[in-house]
Amino acid sequence: MNADELQQLDQNLNWHPCAQMKDYETFKPLVIKSAYDSYIELSNGKKIIDAISSWWCKSLGHNHPLLKKAVLEQIEKFEHVLFAHTTHDTIVQLAQKLTSLSPNLNKVFYAGDGSSAVEIALKMSLHARVLQNQPHRSQFIALKNSYHGETSGALSVSDLTLYKQPYASMLFTPIFIEPAYVDNLDDPLWNDASAHWLKTEKILEQYANTTTAIIIEPIVQGAAGMKIYSADFLSRLASWAKHHAIHIIADEIMTGLGRTGKMLASEYAHIEADFVCLSKGLTSGWLPFSVVLTNDAIYQLFYDDYDRGKAFLHSHTYSGNALGASLALATLTIIETDNLCARARELQTILYAHMKEIADKTHLLHKVRAIGAIVAADFVWGHNEKFNQLLAQRAVEMGALIRPIGNTLYWLPPLNISLQTLVDLKDITLQTLENFKHQ
Ligand SMILES: Cc1ncc(COP(=O)(O)O)c(C=O)c1O
Repeated sequence: MNADELQQLDQNLNWHPCAQMKDYETFKPLVIKSAYDSYIELSNGKKIIDAISSWWCKSLGHNHPLLKKAVLEQIEKFEHVLFAHTTHDTIVQLAQKLTSLSPNLNKVFYAGDGSSAVEIALKMSLHARVLQNQPHRSQFIALKNSYHGETSGALSVSDLTLYKQPYASMLFTPIFIEPAYVDNLDDPLWNDASAHWLKTEKILEQYANTTTAIIIEPIVQGAAGMKIYSADFLSRLASWAKHHAIHIIADEIMTGLGRTGKMLASEYAHIEADFVCLSKGLTSGWLPFSVVLTNDAIYQLFYDDYDRGKAFLHSHTYSGNALGASLALATLTIIETDNLCARARELQTILYAHMKEIADKTHLLHKVRAIGAIVAADFVWGHNEKFNQLLAQRAVEMGALIRPIGNTLYWLPPLNISLQTLVDLKDITLQTLENFKHQ
């Protein structure tokens, strides 16, 4: 089948994620031939840079040989057996690695995607209150501009109305508080958000006895447009939560596993959450696979004779899938051996310099900000979705997959992207923007 036929059939049959399908009439879906390293190769032979790691998951790029080896070795043993009352070498080794990320997070629960992991953390927190005979603690607190996924619990604790408004009648209502946003990591607010905190604390006081958990995307809010907020704010919020025996749920689905230059972005605020959700980069985007890490205190609340009715009876068919586990284990090993947290911190400076150069040359971007292997800047005219789509289309023609979110242009490349590819990405982005100016 040639590319035109494929695109036509695709349009007849498929409904793509996060899209107004009518837009596919003018910007046809890219027909993929292969993908390797930081590149996606199209059916016409064109190579494009995956500047957003395929929705933030391809931390080690495409087709990493060691990941291929790991999954093939697992396939030779078995591909999937239910994880209820079974175990195996791969998943135990993975659990050892995951529980070494943080001092007290020593229990791992498995799911299939990020949204499901968020649902699990919300349910575990609420269920723990039932088991503790604290049914009055049923309120959730979340951050303004948050995004935690698409299932109803995850959507409820998300603040981006674009994604949730039509479903309001099936969602619950958390309290939303505003984090102290910073321009960059050298913003004084990064280390001292005391004034902002005083205002926040006043709002929070009234919910101190009725809240079960505060859910956060630590330090960076991805879907909001790579908004970075103060480490001091997060640290104060977590101390307040601890003081009032409120759980912290850290949604590290985008920020975790090296992306921000730390294994967990929570480390910037020196906090340890009660629940940590990981997905996306956990298998370097090879398979849908997610986990919720929690501590022994939570686990013990559920641990009793079956007829006491305390078990956490949450199940997903593919919970603990062996192929996903083999990929996660290999990914964590590579992040460690290739020292990719340090690499992400190096990229921070390089990505910032490249994006700043584009902002300075075009005058179309401002508020350049970077943390680890994430860099973003805002369009000076605000949000224009038609422009965003046109820019994405033109960037592909020039050789890069870029998808602005709202008023934000960003790169979130594989952690092991080469420096030359980053220079190419800068040139392509610059040229794409310059072309708009000259139209
Ligand atoms: C912070 C965060 N949480 C949760 C999710 C949802 O993950 P998934 O798309 O795998 O359900 C996302 C996805 O972008 C995310 O960025």
